[in-house]
Amino acid sequence: MSTTDYLLGVNQTELERLNFQHSVWGHVTNNFFERLNVGSGWKCLDVGSGPGFVAMDLRERVGPTGEITALEPSKYYLEWFEQETKNRKWTNFKFINGDAESAKLPDSYYDLIFARWVIGFVPDAEKFLSSLFKALRPGGIIALQDYIYEGLSLFPRGGAFDGMADAVRGYWRSGGGDPNIAARIPVIFRKHGIQLKDYYPNVLAGGPESNVIEWAHRFFATHTQTMVDKGVIGQQVGDAMWKDWTDHRKNPDTIFVSPIVVDVAGVRPL
Ligand SMILES: C[S@@+](CC[C@H](N)C(=O)[O-])C[C@H]1O[C@@H](n2cnc3c(N)ncnc32)[C@H](O)[C@@H]1O
Repeated sequence: MSTTDYLLGVNQTELERLNFQHSVWGHVTNNFFERLNVGSGWKCLDVGSGPGFVAMDLRERVGPTGEITALEPSKYYLEWFEQETKNRKWTNFKFINGDAESAKLPDSYYDLIFARWVIGFVPDAEKFLSSLFKALRPGGIIALQDYIYEGLSLFPRGGAFDGMADAVRGYWRSGGGDPNIAARIPVIFRKHGIQLKDYYPNVLAGGPESNVIEWAHRFFATHTQTMVDKGVIGQQVGDAMWKDWTDHRKNPDTIFVSPIVVDVAGVRPL
């Protein structure tokens, strides 16, 4: 996959959306790292790091004796991140410009390989994972956070937005991805001898002033029209969904529920 193929695009607006997204979901990722006991001195690979918001949190955990490698196909995000680490005078970072399927990674090396919101976009999830498994040291952990794109809801129900979950699932598939990828990862683990260690669903919900509805807003504000442009939904449907969404945002009784983000972790046997 080249960077221009990445479904959600590579640009300043998307970089800012990813930053805000991390401010909303970062605690979920950090709870996952806490359960996995990620700690001082670990060697970590952040796959599809984007501008590095998770990798920067990982740095807090592994400290100066640990090592973090960011693997990212977009030069724009990777260079932004590299500059950020220079500004912070952090030296224990490595940067690989490439994708998981074809990057040259050291064999049996990492204590943790992590990927958040990446595998759901790739056309061949097994190929993506199998090149990563080899780079794990025996006993090392592979951890992913991604969707089972169910549960997305806007209350009170009954408007055009009720069709949005279906639309987004179609949008993911239009780019070759799988909106329910988290349901398939354990199957791929088992096939490759990776032992499932953790499987935990997360959902956020909130009213019209909540961070989580603002997170969703930043996605739908750009991507509802992109779904129309790509022919995933018709213009009238897209317009009706957007109107239903903006009407709900003015209603104090609104509750938004996110799709399910699943923590999935496996261990390479000793
Ligand atoms: C939604 S962003 C998530 C960024 C980051 N993981 C986060 O949670 O903030 C998805 C990222 O995956 C990268 N990506 C897409 N396909 C990839 C692949 N095959 N291998 C590695 N990274 C990939 C994209 O360039 C993009 O930066």
